[in-house]
Amino acid sequence: MGDIAPSFAFHDLAPSQESFRDAVLAGLGRDPKTLPCKFFYDARGSALFEKICELPEYYLTRTEIAILDRFAADIAARIGPHCRLIELGSGASHKVRILLEALDRPAAYVAVDISREQLRRAAARLAADFPKLAVVAVCADYTRSFVLPELPGPDGKRVGFFPGSTIGNFEPRQVVAFLSDWAKLLGPGGEMLIGADLKKDPAILNRAYNDKAGINAAFNLNLLTRINRELGGDFDLDRFAHVAFYSEAEGRVELYLKSLAEQTVVAAGQRFRFGAGELIHTENSYKYAIDEFRALAAVAGFEPVHSWTDRHQLFSVHYLRRT
Ligand code: AVJ
Repeated sequence: MGDIAPSFAFHDLAPSQESFRDAVLAGLGRDPKTLPCKFFYDARGSALFEKICELPEYYLTRTEIAILDRFAADIAARIGPHCRLIELGSGASHKVRILLEALDRPAAYVAVDISREQLRRAAARLAADFPKLAVVAVCADYTRSFVLPELPGPDGKRVGFFPGSTIGNFEPRQVVAFLSDWAKLLGPGGEMLIGADLKKDPAILNRAYNDKAGINAAFNLNLLTRINRELGGDFDLDRFAHVAFYSEAEGRVELYLKSLAEQTVVAAGQRFRFGAGELIHTENSYKYAIDEFRALAAVAGFEPVHSWTDRHQLFSVHYLRRT
């Protein structure tokens, strides 16, 4: 071990506090009420999400990791040498390690995430563990367009890595817009590796988002705690409940916070009335059959190269190439 701290470039394009405030005011002022799921990931929310990933009911993370582990050599061979990986929603950067270990001399890794301190820690650890890799951390809201910093290293293939079924948070038409932007960003020959949760028995989905230990509930309710702390809110956490269910018609799991009583709440300097049973829509998590996902990607200018799944057809990893 050297005594020089491992270095990585850090770009802070994090959304301002005003953007949280504006989103809360707009979302709670709407009928029906909504709050954007990207604001789940403050420090406590990110830690709770890490706990969700370890729940027995939440099969997504462990299944995707198993797919990456099992097919790492195949994935690495398709990507080829000297690639530059750009990960969106890198979180704790656990999954990318599987790729980095299998890849042939990867040149650069760009981690993009909205959770600043977690991103900093993850980038530092990666830079220490992969000394030949140029590590760049970008704190940004990648659901909006942002400027990708200059990628270090020789001009190797650019590969976008978007694991975790985070793409399921977008509406299908947003998926098309998002992938179209990435087709442009990645340039000719650009490729993407995307994790997408598969459609399956609704009972499995309903259990995954309603775990016995109540971690999904704590994660969802933490959004109100964050509003209380950062925007001077007075939400009473005992008067809201976590609701999550799979909608067969929409092909998605929907998350809500349900008001358990008629009440008035102050947040960001405004008063909001809630009826008993009124819902705040906090998240959608779309589930896609292999062909459904490929069809969306095709509209955005990507052709399917390969898709990997687990034995039980719970989760899929798609490898796409710009047409
Ligand atoms: C990070 C978007 C993939 O939809 O499963 C977990 C987030 N929400 N429990 C998902 C989440 C509630 C998760 N994604």
